[in-house]
Parts: sequence; C-alpha cells; structure tokens
Amino acid sequence: MGEPGGPVREPAPLLQGAVRLLLLACLAGLLLCLWWARRRGARRAKGPPGPAGWPLLGNVLQLGRLPHLTFCELARRYGDVFGLRLGVRAVVVLNGEAAIRRALVQRGGLFAGRPDFPSFRLVSGGRSVAFGRYTERWRAQRRVAQATLRAFSTAAGAGAPSKRLLEQHVAAEAQELIDGLVARSRGGAFADPAPLLTVANANVMCALCFGQRYGHDDAEFRALLGRNDRFGQTVAAGSLVDVLPWLQAFPNPVRRVFRDFQALNRELHDFVRAKVAQHRRTFLPGASPRHISDAILERMEHGPGAQQQGLAGDYVEGTLTDLFGAGQDTTSTALAWVLLLLLKHPALRRQLQQDLDRVVGRARLPTADDRAALPRLEAFLYETLRYSSFVPLTIPHATTADVLLDGFHIPKDTVVFVNQWSVNHDRLRWKDPHVFDPARFLDARQETLDRDLACRVLVFSLGQRRCIGDQLAKLQLFLFTAILLHQCEVEANPAEQLTMDCEHGLALKPRPYTVAVRRRGGPPQAPRGEERPAGVAGGPS
Ligand code: HEM
Repeated sequence: MGEPGGPVREPAPLLQGAVRLLLLACLAGLLLCLWWARRRGARRAKGPPGPAGWPLLGNVLQLGRLPHLTFCELARRYGDVFGLRLGVRAVVVLNGEAAIRRALVQRGGLFAGRPDFPSFRLVSGGRSVAFGRYTERWRAQRRVAQATLRAFSTAAGAGAPSKRLLEQHVAAEAQELIDGLVARSRGGAFADPAPLLTVANANVMCALCFGQRYGHDDAEFRALLGRNDRFGQTVAAGSLVDVLPWLQAFPNPVRRVFRDFQALNRELHDFVRAKVAQHRRTFLPGASPRHISDAILERMEHGPGAQQQGLAGDYVEGTLTDLFGAGQDTTSTALAWVLLLLLKHPALRRQLQQDLDRVVGRARLPTADDRAALPRLEAFLYETLRYSSFVPLTIPHATTADVLLDGFHIPKDTVVFVNQWSVNHDRLRWKDPHVFDPARFLDARQETLDRDLACRVLVFSLGQRRCIGDQLAKLQLFLFTAILLHQCEVEANPAEQLTMDCEHGLALKPRPYTVAVRRRGGPPQAPRGEERPAGVAGGPS
C-alpha cells in the first residue's frame, strides 16, 4: 500500500498479472457454465412423443400390414415428428413435407446416415451406395455412381455418351415386351404382365451397365430377378429381421426371411462380379467406355484421383450391383402401376393415344423429344407416382450426431423413417388426394403441365440420400408408356376386379392382374436384334 499523502504507486506487476489471470479464469468459468447449461438443456430437451410400446417388442405389433398408413394415423395424434420403439431400436418417424424438408434438406448430413442393420451390411457385398454408412468414402462412391449414371442416361452434349443410347435400349425392349404380351394374348387369353415388365426393365439396366441383354424365356435370369420381391420385404421400414435380433437364435419365419435375403444378395452380387471380371479382362484404360461398367472401372481405379478416393477393387462391383438392383425393380414396379391405371381408366387411355397420334404420328416411334408436347401423358405419370406412392417410406435413415428437430432431442444413431406417402396424400396440399386425377397437374385447357406442382410429388426422397436414378427412371417410364400406348391396345380382364390393393415391401407391388394386348394398326417397328445399339449382346455370358 502507498503511504497516506505519499505518491500513488502503480500496483506491483505481479498483482496486475494475478488480476488478469483471475479475470481470465472468471471468463473461462462463465463460458464453461454457459456450455454446460446448453448441453444440459439439449439433454433435457425431450425426445419426440409417441405411443407406448410393449417390453421387448416395442411398437412392432402396432405397425400393421401397411406401416405408412399407420404412421399417418399416429402423426394425426402425435404430430409430424413422433417416436417409436421397434424391438431394440429407437425410431423417429417424419411425416409431411415441412418436417421432412427441415430434417433431410436443412439438416442434410445429420439425417443422411443409414442404420447399422445386419441386413444392410449384406447388400452389394457390403460396398453399397444405397445401404452404406455416411462417410467421406461413401460420398466419393455416390459421386462416381451419380455422374456415371447421368452420363449414360439423361446427359446431353459433348463428352457424354449419347442420351439416345437409353432411348434406343428402351425402344428395343419395349418391342420385345409388346411381342411377348401379344403372343401371350393370342386366342383371347389374358396374361400376367409382371414377369415381362421385370425382364424388360432389367434388360435396359443390363444393357446400360454391361452391354448385354437376356431373352424373356431365360429361366436363370428370370429366377434371379424374381427374388427381388424378397429383397424389398427385408429392407423395408418395419421389417423385423434387424430390430428383433433374438429371433435369429431359433427356427422361425423371420430367420428364414433373413437367410433367404443372405442368399439372394450373394446371387445378385455374384452375377455382377462375373460380369465385371469379364469386362476387366478387356478393359483399356483411357479408351472410350463401352458401358457403365467400363466408366466406373476408369473412374474408380484408373482416372486422376482414383487412388485418393480409396474405391479400387470391391467398390466397383458394389456400385454396379446397386445400380443394376435398384434400377430394375423400381421402374418395373412403376410400370406395373402405370399399366393397371391405364386399364382402370379407358377414356383417359384413349385421350393419351389421340395425343400421341397427333404429336408423334404413325410413321415413327415416340422419343424423349416428344415429352414437352405431351403434357397429358406427363401429368398421367406424375399422378400415377403420387397416387400409388409405391415407395411409401424411403430406405431407413439414421442420425449421424445428436440433433434437435422441432424442439425434440434425437440422439445419434437413431433410426429415421421418412413417410413419403404422407406428403403425397396430404389433404392440405392436394384436393381429394384419394382420387386419381391427372388433370390436377394441368391448366384449365389441359395444355400445360404445372411443373411446380409436379415437383411436390415425393417418390425419390430429398437431401443427400435422394435417389440418383430419378431422371433416368422418369425418362424410362415415359418412353415405355408412350411406346406401349402408341403401339398397342390393352384390355382388362372382365373376370378380375382391378384394385389398388398391394403387397408391402420397400416398393408396394400391385396384386397380380392380367391383360390382353394387341397391336394397333400399321405402326412402325423399333430396332431390335442386330439393329440394337452397338455392343449389346444377347443371351447369358
Ligand atoms: C421409379 C423409379 C424409382 C424410384 C421411385 C426410386 C426411389 C428411391 C428412393 C425412395 C430411394 C431412397 C432415398 C432415401 O433413402 O432417402 C432411392 C435410393 C436410391 N436409388 Fe432410386 N428409385 C427409382 C429408380 C432408380 C434407378 C433407375 C436407379 C439407378 C439406376 C436408382 C438408384 C438408387 C440409388 C443408388 C439409391 C441410393 C441413394 C443413397 O442412398 O444415397 N433408383 N430411390
């Protein structure tokens, strides 16, 4: 202390330092308290509300045959974001466009994970884009898959293998499909179109991926594709194999489904591996790619930056298994719904045929360039996707970190179900959503497609896990439908009632129905056999 009346002395430098330290310590303490308060607040934030479940089973028994409809009911009671427990797993269900956008778009990466389900690890040799966990390597793999798919299907312009390639493949497969349907309809018979639709769509993907197609009567190829139904039943939201692991311990139907799933994934992966092995032998780095398989080999194993991505080896096979698998089952199911709705609405069918005759004429086949001039057909396809919502729930997502959504705390690794059906059947967005009405997408004169409204149909999901085949699928669907309507008359079986009732899986499939098909007068023929795009071989390798 200074003496009274003496000169005021500066505080000792030591003291100055101590005060500074004390202030710093207080500040740090304050920041720490704030951080703790926030953390505790986040921890205290409650999880989403939801129905009470049973011990061990959780809410498994409440899901019903069509879980997306149960979720719509639960959303009315608990709100658009609600929680469930399925066996050992906590699940959050997202409903309605706003909540789904807030999660998948605004919080992108936080909702872009996949659950660590045992079944997911079996897909595509454990190197799947669709079922892979959200990592840096997964992002690189998805980028390659997306860019290659685009280059071989919908991209136009220099450097991209022609957009016409897809058109040629579809036109050729559509002709084979029509031949098959017409042959099976001879003598007044009605035939189940599903197996032919499956092979036709699989052949388009097989030609794009490997430059090869199979005959409709190839028993091995048909058997390989036929097992796809069981794939969808296992990975669909609400499937029990992953949430009730104790069911693997003793013989029961769930364990059998899981073992079938193991076998069918192995078979599909082996089929693709054999094809890739064949192409590796003749692959020339830097040469123009013959098909998607070559392009992926180039990008993952040879091109600039290939080493850094860490995708050499099994990732080529994994990616191609995904593209081949995801690409054919979904589009053939979509086409089965298209045909069913065409049969149910004969007046609309005739209008669409008149449009095609006016725009395309009878001297050539419809092409992708006719799309813009056929708004009624586009509207019909969008309404088919909306009304059937045949992928009602996306592949299950998972949170990649703790996240706060709409005030609810959702811990890392929570399983997330995204209810696309709830968006497409929302009464606030769609007038009479339960009515099939393609005109909702057209102006009063039925001449212009309302593209904004069409974009609101949610079938390809949103955000970082959005389907990478959306453009290809829409173009393929347009071309198959346009060629079928342009070339054929289709007739429903009067002995059957056509319903929207369906079999549940990742994709909802229509109940089996039959159809009679005959050619319309004097149409042109699409390329087939030796006229197919270069490099497409027939028959098994
Ligand atoms: C009408 C036909 C199709 C529909 C309705 C459809 C729908 C979907 C849906 C709902 C998802 C899940 C998205 C999510 O989990 O949030 C998905 C993922 C995927 N789809 Fe499609 N899809 C179709 C056609 C295709 C085609 C033709 C291909 C490829 C050739 C394809 C490749 C994929 C892939 C690779 C994924 C995984 C994306 C990821 O996890 O990042 N899809 N699709």
